[in-house]
Amino acid sequence: MKIAIINGPNINLVGKREPNIYGEQSFKEFYRSLRKKYPKIGFIHFQSNIEGEIIDKLQEVGYSYDAIILNAAAYTHTSVGIGDAVKAIRTPVVEVHISNVWAREEFRHKSYISSYAKGVIAGFGLQSYELAVKSFLENDL
Ligand code: DQA
Repeated sequence: MKIAIINGPNINLVGKREPNIYGEQSFKEFYRSLRKKYPKIGFIHFQSNIEGEIIDKLQEVGYSYDAIILNAAAYTHTSVGIGDAVKAIRTPVVEVHISNVWAREEFRHKSYISSYAKGVIAGFGLQSYELAVKSFLENDL
């Protein structure tokens, strides 16, 4: 199984950024242990702070990968373009968030992605990504 993890703006700062919300582990460190735990899955990880690059990556993997785990971060709440890309591609997308966005400011309650996603996992820290992996492993695609 090939799974692409796509992260949006400021996820490269997780570990240093607001540790009370996002925790103290960096995504890279978490990703290393995730790969070790699931050696049979062909993972790729892509992070960008640029909206168009996230759209390009969704288009690139969206017809050949088995699964996409997308944390579009702040663009979740603003980007019609990323929502349209998720709608356009064939690969199923699970939307993830490290924090529970519904327990935070109201502007984080809106997502341009959720209605086109297979599901949404939020609020479990970096563990949200592993829960998304499990959802793909345990359900038929
Ligand atoms: C986030 C939640 C977003 O509201 C925020 O802008 C982020 C990260 C999360 O993973 O909890 O940057 O997507």
